[in-house]
Amino acid sequence: MTDHQDVSLDWMSTDQENLRPPTDLRPEIPHPARMYDYYLGGKDNFPADREAAEKVLALGPLVRISAQANRAFLQRAVRELASEHGIRQFLDIGTGIPTAGNTHEIAQQVHPDAKVAYLDNDPIVLVHSRALLAAAGTGNATVVQADLRDPAAILDDPDVRKVIDFDQPVGLLLFAVLHFIDDSDDPKGIVRTLLDALPSGSFLAVSHATGDFSAPDQAAKGPAVYRAASAQLTMRSREQVLGFFDGLELLEPGVVTAPNWRPDEAPQATDAETAIWAGVARKP
Ligand SMILES: C[S@@+](CC[C@H](N)C(=O)[O-])C[C@H]1O[C@@H](n2cnc3c(N)ncnc32)[C@H](O)[C@@H]1O
Repeated sequence: MTDHQDVSLDWMSTDQENLRPPTDLRPEIPHPARMYDYYLGGKDNFPADREAAEKVLALGPLVRISAQANRAFLQRAVRELASEHGIRQFLDIGTGIPTAGNTHEIAQQVHPDAKVAYLDNDPIVLVHSRALLAAAGTGNATVVQADLRDPAAILDDPDVRKVIDFDQPVGLLLFAVLHFIDDSDDPKGIVRTLLDALPSGSFLAVSHATGDFSAPDQAAKGPAVYRAASAQLTMRSREQVLGFFDGLELLEPGVVTAPNWRPDEAPQATDAETAIWAGVARKP
């Protein structure tokens, strides 16, 4: 755990009215982002979140394996973009609670002045994120409430534009968020709109839940868990995930399961356990 996460818990666990955050975190109601934080071993979660997460984990360890594999991919991809491709600014959409090993921490290990705009549409995530960043005292990262389904608003947002220079290459990060976008909202069109605003030499990194490795009855279970948590999950095939990279130059090894994207060590989890497609590509 990092220091700033410990600091943030001081106000999360306090009963003192004047230390309460401006938005009610509704700690008594399990929240998917805080459950995800718990799967990852983070500390930004409450007893109700832990209880609900343990119920999911009791069904099998896959949720935790998959969350950890996704997060490890995020970290390898950001490090790769910063160190090998000189990317110094990142648009991280669907950021979740910035738990251990956040985008700005990884990027700033390579470029101390690296900039990150974190965007999420969930007000509860925003409250947690702002507190974490404030406690960490980082001026080069910002948190903005925005919906991926409205890419034009993201591109026009003055707070995003304060941090991101759209004349310079950008790392567009869509980790574990596109599966929350229904086909009727045209996720491919959304990605295209965002990419169109970025200069040549920018990158797109995507991770995405898939049912490709599950029997049909199992594949239905993931969406069911999320329906219960009031979020819709759309699993997509490798072919569909490849479609997000149309017109871009995929980095080796292409779209593979998350643990197999440039692993630091031999992957422990199987494709079926992870069930997440991952890829990174350059805009020519
Ligand atoms: C599973 S978390 C992923 C967190 C982080 N990107 C990662 O990969 O570790 C998904 C996040 O996407 C956010 N999200 C879902 N739908 C969204 C939308 N339409 N616009 C912006 N964020 C969204 C959720 O609030 C949640 O915080």
